[in-house]
Amino acid sequence: MCGIIAYSGHRPVVPILLDGLKRLEYRGYDSAGVAYAHKGSLAVVKQAGKMHQLEEMLEGRQNGATSGIGHTRWATHGLPNRNNAHPHTDNGKGLALVHNGIIENHQTLKTWLEDRGHRFTSETDTEVLSHLISQGCLQKKEKFEALAWALDQVEGSYAIAVIFQDEPGVIWAARQSSPLLMGLGEGEMFLSSDIPAFLSATRDVVYLDDGELVRMEPGGWQVFDSGSRNPKAKEVSRIDWDIRAAEKGGYPHFMLKEIFEQPGVIQDCLKGRIDQDKAQVLLPEVEGLPVPERLRIVACGTSYHAGLWAKHLFEHWSDIDVEVDIASEFRYRKLRFRPNDMTLAITQSGETADTLAGLRMARESQVPVLGLCNVVGSSVARESDRVLYTQAGPEISVASTKAMCSQMTSLLLLALYWGRRRGTTDESLERTVVTHLRALPGVLEASLPGMQRTAQDLVQRYRESRHFFYLGRGLNASLALEGALKLKEISYIHAEGYAAGEMKHGPIALIDPAFPTFVVAPADDLAPKTLSNIKEVLARKGEVILLSSPSLKFFGTYRWDIPELVWPLSSFAVLPALQLFAYEMAVELGTDVDQPRNLAKSVTVE
Ligand code: F6R
Repeated sequence: MCGIIAYSGHRPVVPILLDGLKRLEYRGYDSAGVAYAHKGSLAVVKQAGKMHQLEEMLEGRQNGATSGIGHTRWATHGLPNRNNAHPHTDNGKGLALVHNGIIENHQTLKTWLEDRGHRFTSETDTEVLSHLISQGCLQKKEKFEALAWALDQVEGSYAIAVIFQDEPGVIWAARQSSPLLMGLGEGEMFLSSDIPAFLSATRDVVYLDDGELVRMEPGGWQVFDSGSRNPKAKEVSRIDWDIRAAEKGGYPHFMLKEIFEQPGVIQDCLKGRIDQDKAQVLLPEVEGLPVPERLRIVACGTSYHAGLWAKHLFEHWSDIDVEVDIASEFRYRKLRFRPNDMTLAITQSGETADTLAGLRMARESQVPVLGLCNVVGSSVARESDRVLYTQAGPEISVASTKAMCSQMTSLLLLALYWGRRRGTTDESLERTVVTHLRALPGVLEASLPGMQRTAQDLVQRYRESRHFFYLGRGLNASLALEGALKLKEISYIHAEGYAAGEMKHGPIALIDPAFPTFVVAPADDLAPKTLSNIKEVLARKGEVILLSSPSLKFFGTYRWDIPELVWPLSSFAVLPALQLFAYEMAVELGTDVDQPRNLAKSVTVE
């Protein structure tokens, strides 16, 4: 979703803003722009389309300006055109502003401002903010008071960065329910929606919290509580991952790199969480937290599929009742929480608005919340009672891959750990699973290149298909959903994921020779049941791509063998196979793999 970068320092600002914006491209956007103070006025350059278009417009403008703001916009209110692109200014061009979020009461504010002579030039909700701050300056004179007063009027979510024409070198910023953090360099300050935008310059960051207002300039910064107007002390955190983790490293796409990173991701996720001698799970992050009797999992998209997958593990090993909800549904349900309930919020970014709302709803009902997040210091991480980090490193491709692998690894550990605490798994089961889990990265590392070749062959065979079914049972039903999601989001091919047994209750009517079915059925207890569904498809002249393991003796139209692994570890081989098929199909069809149309990486609006 929208990305913000701001810089104030001693270096020319335009290349820094462009570099920062490029590193935020993964969030998804349809227009981009920058603003900087130059020769006593504000220059605003913005354009619909991709970054190279903005770059062309800025060519030859490498001027002396050393502070400014930049933005990538993912359209919510108003078309993705130049007028609606950020930055937005007030009528006198006394200030320029970029915004991520939604101003819910913008219509009321707009009418109020128009009555006071403000003329609007875009269809965005954001523009009310620039006029409101300008109105605040008229009424309050002091910039700090004007900003705080303007924010008092606003309902909704925002991360904003503002520059004033008469105050070059100073950046103002504020946050409410949208991510924003500062990067502290040597005589230079950064502000952004995400760390990669400035990581090449500094590793020292300050995470901003809701209701905070910031003033920064090259020599220093100050955070205030926007409501009380009082200064606040903030902690400086040190980022320990490398900028190379957010670069392609020789791969043609981030998505492929991230798929191939999965063996390492499992290893990193296990670090410090396995007692090597006893082959037992250690989870210091949840120690002392009562094991729930009922777990309500809340998540969106791929993270939701990880939750569906883990439900089986919590039921099998930990004897816990589990409900898994799509966060946008969960937040509007009328729920009755019980004393031993727990909510588990699964989210890669930790900023997904619906998941955050679900978490808050649970907390308001006094239900403990465990966050399973990848992004350190994210909103979900900070608002949860406890947080389990997936330790997957930055995920840049919009389509989530390694994050799901790390979520599955963490959830598996949690299910085993809670199983032991509740006495519902025996030691030998835990030892067996842990032993196989330790060997898993090596098995995957060895099989990924072959899987990619198989995916390429399969794509040649099915490149003309415009529809796919994905079927599976138990754990594999959630992987079928994920396989279908990956295919549709990056190759734009229609794909439906179904629980195999549901097929005959309607969808089977769609089967014909041009509608292939991907069946996820590695050899496990439920595989024989799935075989009968395969026969039903074949009997109707449908083609079946059977993704299975060698010990299952059956053949569809096309057989794809993944390594033989114990339940539930086979899922860790199924997952990259499905991801690679979607990836190779998208490459074959020439789509924008890392930034698929209409999608945003971190969905910070409802
Ligand atoms: C799919 C994808 C999305 C995310 C979803 C939740 O490839 O990336 O479906 O999984 O937007 O995002 P997080 O996990 O950041 O809450």
